[in-house]
Amino acid sequence: AALPEAARATGHPGHTGHVAPVERAVAPFSVRMPVPKVLQPQSTKGDNDFYVVTAKKAKVEILPGTRTEVFTYAGMFPGPTLRVRTGRTAIVRHTNDLDMGTVAHVHGGCTPASSDGFPTDTLAPGKSRDYVYPNKQRAATLWYHDHAHHMEAEHVFRGLAGFYLIDDPAEAALRLPSGDYDIPIMLRDARFDDKARMVFEKDDFQGRTTILANGKPQPYFPVAARRYRLRFVNASNLRTFTLRLGKDTQVAQIASDGGLLAAPAAVRSWRMTPGERIEVVVDFSRFKVGSQVILNDAEVGPVMRFDVGRSATTDTSRVPDRLSTLPALPTATGKRKIVLSFDRTNGRFLINGREFDQKRVDTEIKLGTTEVWTVTNDSTNFAIPHNFHPHLVQFRVLDRNGRPPAPGEAGVKDTVAVGPGETVRLQATFGPYIGKYAYHCHMIDHSSSGMMAQMKIVA
Ligand code: C2O
Ligand code: CU
Repeated sequence: AALPEAARATGHPGHTGHVAPVERAVAPFSVRMPVPKVLQPQSTKGDNDFYVVTAKKAKVEILPGTRTEVFTYAGMFPGPTLRVRTGRTAIVRHTNDLDMGTVAHVHGGCTPASSDGFPTDTLAPGKSRDYVYPNKQRAATLWYHDHAHHMEAEHVFRGLAGFYLIDDPAEAALRLPSGDYDIPIMLRDARFDDKARMVFEKDDFQGRTTILANGKPQPYFPVAARRYRLRFVNASNLRTFTLRLGKDTQVAQIASDGGLLAAPAAVRSWRMTPGERIEVVVDFSRFKVGSQVILNDAEVGPVMRFDVGRSATTDTSRVPDRLSTLPALPTATGKRKIVLSFDRTNGRFLINGREFDQKRVDTEIKLGTTEVWTVTNDSTNFAIPHNFHPHLVQFRVLDRNGRPPAPGEAGVKDTVAVGPGETVRLQATFGPYIGKYAYHCHMIDHSSSGMMAQMKIVA
């Protein structure tokens, strides 16, 4: 799968300077952004909650006035939100009513290998299986998506993605905005043809010019003049978002992939590569009632609009100066080098010079070991952005190109940007489960082409 010529020219998805025509024009801010429904457990027994999710095709309204066939979890685009509590086990029975194999994976989940969704651990059409999620981890905005070998890019693009939110008492005690004022927002790009059909081609970063927030194109969302917690995930296959609100409004970043930061970070713009989550608290009371505040991306412009409609009577939420205690960083006893590269001569995406092979263990790690991984995007032959995501563990970014991470990147993370020529050092403790887990570039057109490897945690 060689890249299109324009990618060779610039090496940066979306920075080609020319953009494919939008096939079906949609006036911006003409549809309201929905909030994905929270899935209720089918039953509950002791500390276990049982959920049921069926993957199936459905026709949904994405572009106004027309229907698009997509792949869905439970008929919804994006899928229903799973909202769980730390320490309660979620057992999710996935049924595959699609005509191809699927693999469900909770991104950021600390999950036993048998339920983590190894790429070749396929659920065949017509079959069901139970995935077990112990949720022994801190509160965080996670998401679940398909991970079928070589197919995750197309499956996620066509809709197999949803939020997986973990709550815990420590976070609840902070009195951050909650309930109707706690809004998950899944951002992604997409491409449609003139019949409103989704068009999937690998590495098609130029064609994916429609930006969706919770499955709607450049929507508006009514808010009250008060504080909101906004949980963003970038669910794009390739696109990086660099977001800012209104005229560079200062917002408080409160969390990254793995949950709360130690303290809020005041930011005016925040960057998200595919798979990353960032949570911000926005105080809409700083805008006049009646204002329209646009969320802009540095490259594509308007992503969505917040319409400040009413002034709230009371807002008892707050953003405390201290948010959480980050897990301690034990002394590392192991080191690895990870090199991400693209071989332009044959169009191959590689980790340490190799494509994914389900039969080859790339990295063996003793259970409980703390390691520093030095991840480099080798752009000597070809410059293209990548990022890096290991399953099972959350990590800390030690440094980026030798410099300490920015405050928003200094918390708990599971996915990190590694731009052309960059080197990022991260530290993780590998456990508490043994078994085989994937690690890969989360620009999933790349991982679907082989930019993935596996580690085996051994007792
Ligand atoms: Cu978001 Cu390997 O996954
Ligand atoms: Cu990549």
